[in-house]
Amino acid sequence: MDVEVFLTSSVVSEEDVRGRTVIVIDVLRTSSTIAAVLANGSRAVIPVIDTEEAGKIASNLDPTSFLLGGERGGEFIEGYEHGNSPLEYTRERVEGKTVILNTTNGTRAIALSRRAEHLIVGSFLNASAVVNYVRELGRDLIIICAGWRHRVALEDTLAAGMILYRLWEGREPGLVSDGAHIAFTQYRNDQEHLQTTLRRCNHAKWLAGKGYADDVEFCFQVDALPVLPVLDDRRIVLSRRHMQAAQDGRE
Ligand code: MLT
Repeated sequence: MDVEVFLTSSVVSEEDVRGRTVIVIDVLRTSSTIAAVLANGSRAVIPVIDTEEAGKIASNLDPTSFLLGGERGGEFIEGYEHGNSPLEYTRERVEGKTVILNTTNGTRAIALSRRAEHLIVGSFLNASAVVNYVRELGRDLIIICAGWRHRVALEDTLAAGMILYRLWEGREPGLVSDGAHIAFTQYRNDQEHLQTTLRRCNHAKWLAGKGYADDVEFCFQVDALPVLPVLDDRRIVLSRRHMQAAQDGRE
């Protein structure tokens, strides 16, 4: 299985992802928020690139059926009722609803990958669910780390590295792309002190300084939400296969 890792989404084009199996990772916080929203019973998340697209989609929906959330540069968007904190999307708020999500890097990276054959949203919260799924698919893989402020974000690189480390069962194959080698090696280097390293990441420190330390802690939990968000048409939903497995488990 060939794996390409883009360490920031700024350099990815639609052609890079067309027809491919793609994992988009934005640990802080879009991927983690999407995992939380879907784990709490939302029908779907619609990722958008800007307020105009969000407005168009919202105007075609029953106002009681959706929530509008997101951020720009980490700040609330004027007129939006919700931000991009995974903790604000409680079951009481989201169950049965659609969330239109508009974020600076994360939903852009997802929108850019709309033409992928399979698009999976990955984070620390659902790392094992993602690994199991891509192992089953057995296809070449592209991992897009959203990054932060058009730069590499270490938390995204480490989540990509964790996924690869688990996929390759701790042994790097002979020939891998440079991006995959960097992510794998960084994770292998930091895995013993992962939480300490994550808390030192630039974006984590910035968010904590803005009062979002609880979000940061939430997003850095490993395998706390074993959900599998996938893109279906223009909506991110829980994978049907995964939902069936959860249902079978409950019966
Ligand atoms: C983004 O998409 O840029 C991030 O998720 C920003 C954030 O809310 O921390």
